[in-house]
Amino acid sequence: MNDYVAVNKANWDERAPAHAASEDYQVKEFLADPKHLSRVVRFDLPLLGDVAGLKGVHLQCHIGTDTISLARLGASMTGVDFSGPALAVARDLAEKTGADATFVESEVYSAPDVIGRESFDFVFTGIGAICWLPSIRQWAEVVAALLKPGGRLFIREGHPMLWTLADPRDDGLLVVEYPYFERDQPSVFDEEGTYVETDVAFSNNVTHEWSHGLGELVTALLDTGMTITGLVEHDSVPWEALPGYMTQDAGNTNEWRLTDRPWRLAHSYTLQAVKSG
Ligand SMILES: C[S@@+](CC[C@H](N)C(=O)[O-])C[C@H]1O[C@@H](n2cnc3c(N)ncnc32)[C@H](O)[C@@H]1O
Repeated sequence: MNDYVAVNKANWDERAPAHAASEDYQVKEFLADPKHLSRVVRFDLPLLGDVAGLKGVHLQCHIGTDTISLARLGASMTGVDFSGPALAVARDLAEKTGADATFVESEVYSAPDVIGRESFDFVFTGIGAICWLPSIRQWAEVVAALLKPGGRLFIREGHPMLWTLADPRDDGLLVVEYPYFERDQPSVFDEEGTYVETDVAFSNNVTHEWSHGLGELVTALLDTGMTITGLVEHDSVPWEALPGYMTQDAGNTNEWRLTDRPWRLAHSYTLQAVKSG
């Protein structure tokens, strides 16, 4: 196992149960209301369109709340993640809710060998997914390998400009501190908390992360032979990416945006691509 995989897996394994117990992932709502959808998928709906009857794979599915939401929209879903504890939560939730979702433990780059090539009508991923992967080209090859001819990719992800930013300063200036472009060496962080409200104290706090520029992502997909069919940048993101400097909206999706002049920054993007038929 490569070092970054072991380091990141330890971090995620420890956080998954705390995420499941937090209000933010709304596990109770999934159990109580068979029509409940995650906020992420509710946001995606207008661009996602109808997935009923399609066979989908959710890469880096975490505790399965988005995967199960897609199953509730009528797709037959497979969730993939390398974290056993995250998948234990996902399987339990799928069983209790009767969702058409199965969950497979695999590292992303091994997914085509583990769950099958050219097997899926769509690949769904994002919201803090590709930053854990060193090579966007290798990821694009995985996406293309998983899709049937004519199948499509749907990714909504934190914007690479957002990932470059240091914590905002009191004068409101946004300061570029971290890489925008993909680099061989990861950015290494050592942070105690997580992105949900929790009292749990964690001990595996180191992560290895990579940025992937928007052009690098588009080019990697084009080089696999896929066609880009949509690229929309959003002025919001589903988690408080710059704590203390963002405001959560009260609408249906509870997105976060910079409190001060949010139009300065693309917070996230949705990219869609199709594999030629
Ligand atoms: C922020 S979560 C993805 C989020 C998902 N959108 C959500 O919030 O439910 C990142 C997930 O990626 C998984 N992950 C990180 N690196 C991975 C890798 N190399 N292979 C497979 N899964 C990985 C982690 O276990 C974690 O569940």
